[in-house]
Amino acid sequence: MSTRSEREHVRVVADESALAEAVAEFVVERAGAAIAERGRFDLALAGGSTPKAAYALLAAPPLRSRVAWELVRFFFGDERCVPPTDDQSNYKMANDALLAPLGIAESAVFRMRGEDEPHAAASAYADILRRELSAGGTPAFDAIMLGMGPDGHTASLFPGHDPFEDDGALVRAPYVEKFAAHRITLTPQVLNAARCVAIATSGTQKAAALAAVLEGPRDPGKYPISVVAPVDGRLTWFVDRAAAAQLGGR
Ligand code: 6PG
Repeated sequence: MSTRSEREHVRVVADESALAEAVAEFVVERAGAAIAERGRFDLALAGGSTPKAAYALLAAPPLRSRVAWELVRFFFGDERCVPPTDDQSNYKMANDALLAPLGIAESAVFRMRGEDEPHAAASAYADILRRELSAGGTPAFDAIMLGMGPDGHTASLFPGHDPFEDDGALVRAPYVEKFAAHRITLTPQVLNAARCVAIATSGTQKAAALAAVLEGPRDPGKYPISVVAPVDGRLTWFVDRAAAAQLGGR
């Protein structure tokens, strides 16, 4: 499917189950490539509900045995400002579905501390990124997994906020009116420094936003996910037919 750059691709799959399989295979493939090239795989996990099925596939045979998990380090794209034991926590979702079943060592998991004061937690996470990922420039993940809301948000970059505000920041803690709560999120600078980004989107309720983002003018204020354009990396959209229903040229 034609997209905005030659490094951006859209893969349309049949349904949610096929989406989970495609995303899981993507992680396996990117992990193998990163480990072969650099001896490790630094992955930022997506929150929300869409990734759960892909996480479960990665934590179970046969995919579980296809990755050297001891060489993988896990980070997060965003987090709700709740304790890690809260059902709303992206960390808890990933830990239940992926990290605990794989027996991932605590030292390989870098969670955003949702239980702390939001701005302090954002600043602390930026320090972690600079310490663990930065080779002098912007911290670069081997892969970042993202989702998209029906309003075109991604991570915790929501409409109504300038996604490029305080653009020097690596991590920020926006107050999100619709939730009457703060969130902690990677900023566009970090998202676009990744070697590859995978956006997984499913369901009819996202079809309008997806068509606007992929086929309309780039409008990050209205659709924050429009900021995702890796500087040197690849962007792959994994979408099911329901989410792709309003895309032209299908
Ligand atoms: C979050 C996510 C968020 C999510 C989208 C899609 O913390 O909720 O980071 O950006 O990816 O809201 O969520 P679903 O996968 O649940 O549709």
